[in-house]
Amino acid sequence: MMNMNTKALAGNREHKSVHLYTFYPVTPYERLAVQLISHIHLGVIIVDDRLNVVEINQAAGNMLGLEKSKILYRSFQEAIIQLGLPKKCRDRLFSILHSREEGRELEFDWCPEAGRVRSLLLRIHPFEDSESGLKGQILMLEDKTETLLLKQQVQQNNRLATIGQIAAGTAHEIRNPLTAIKGFLQVIGHRMKENGQQKEHGYIDVMLREIGRISSLVGEFLMLSKPRHIKVQSVNVVKVLKDILPIIKNEALLHNIDVVIKQQLTTIPMVEADGELLKQVFLNLTKNAMEAMKDGGLLTLCLKTDEKRRQVVVEISDTGPGIPKQVLEKIFEPFFTTKENGTGLGLPICRQILCEIDGEIRIKSGDKGTRVLVHLPLTKA
Ligand SMILES: Nc1ncnc2c1ncn2[C@@H]1O[C@H](COP(=O)(O)OP(=O)(O)OP(=O)(O)O)[C@@H](O)[C@H]1O
Ligand SMILES: [Mg+2]
Repeated sequence: MMNMNTKALAGNREHKSVHLYTFYPVTPYERLAVQLISHIHLGVIIVDDRLNVVEINQAAGNMLGLEKSKILYRSFQEAIIQLGLPKKCRDRLFSILHSREEGRELEFDWCPEAGRVRSLLLRIHPFEDSESGLKGQILMLEDKTETLLLKQQVQQNNRLATIGQIAAGTAHEIRNPLTAIKGFLQVIGHRMKENGQQKEHGYIDVMLREIGRISSLVGEFLMLSKPRHIKVQSVNVVKVLKDILPIIKNEALLHNIDVVIKQQLTTIPMVEADGELLKQVFLNLTKNAMEAMKDGGLLTLCLKTDEKRRQVVVEISDTGPGIPKQVLEKIFEPFFTTKENGTGLGLPICRQILCEIDGEIRIKSGDKGTRVLVHLPLTKA
């Protein structure tokens, strides 16, 4: 690119004060370079020594939400100011551009209009060609969003695997003595009741309840490791939901919550799953929804068939306060909880179970209400 024939756009009426270059690819190599810049997935922006844009490819335009026709031959700094990049990031970018040092980098998050937040890495390289007198800087933008997400997922999976290993190793050892303690406490409890020691019998009840809690926590730990006795077969989602509906309705009644079930099914929703584990998923999700509606509300369970993706989608929505963005980012982390008595294992377990059966969980939430979508693979016909 740097050896490419260049010509100063002298006397450009619109931009009298600036001195611009434009590229005239002549040799096959130069034409190839132009092709490469336009088709490469990296964003490329080339600015001259006065920081006017002389080239911007489609990828860079998309990443920043800039239109080539509006920015070409104009001041890059002005374009960035108009873009509304956060001040700190903008100042850093300008200082890098003015310093003209080799190989500088800047990482920032950016959300172009009508887009998702992207994590971008900008690398800046100055260039100078003594023969043509061409001077400027090449800005290369890389979209790191997916890589970072994958990295986070790998880290999370590693954490889950570690917890799973610890759990598998210790759960058995914890459960055995617990069973013995529970058995003897029950015997002692009976004796106390027979002897009319009501108060002491009450203590035994408390101890048994707490043992129950330890036992179910250990069970959840085990679930975090690869569920070992998973039995995948063709199950009817409607039946699974019907089985747990009394538990959900009972809980809803206690908290002044209405429960509505909607079905938009085109086929009998037979999915490949472990029915018992699926119950656990729906119970965890409805429990979360109800816990979010402390002062009552509406819990909606909606079943849909997605013929195109060969899936059944179960949507669990609530009218609670929603999940703030900074919380939403963490909810699948084991032990992340915002509740006083929460363990923060509900959602990681749901994700783990769904992962085992090629299903998926997605959560959509904002200022009001939360929608949890559970995607399940339809049984092959
Ligand atoms: N429907 C919801 N509405 C609002 N916040 C939610 C909802 N579902 C989950 N959350 C948030 O996600 C966090 C993690 O949920 P998760 O089910 O993993 O753990 P928990 O409910 O806190 O504890 P546990 O399920 O182990 O009792 C919750 O503490 C809560 O902040
Ligand atoms: Mg929960």
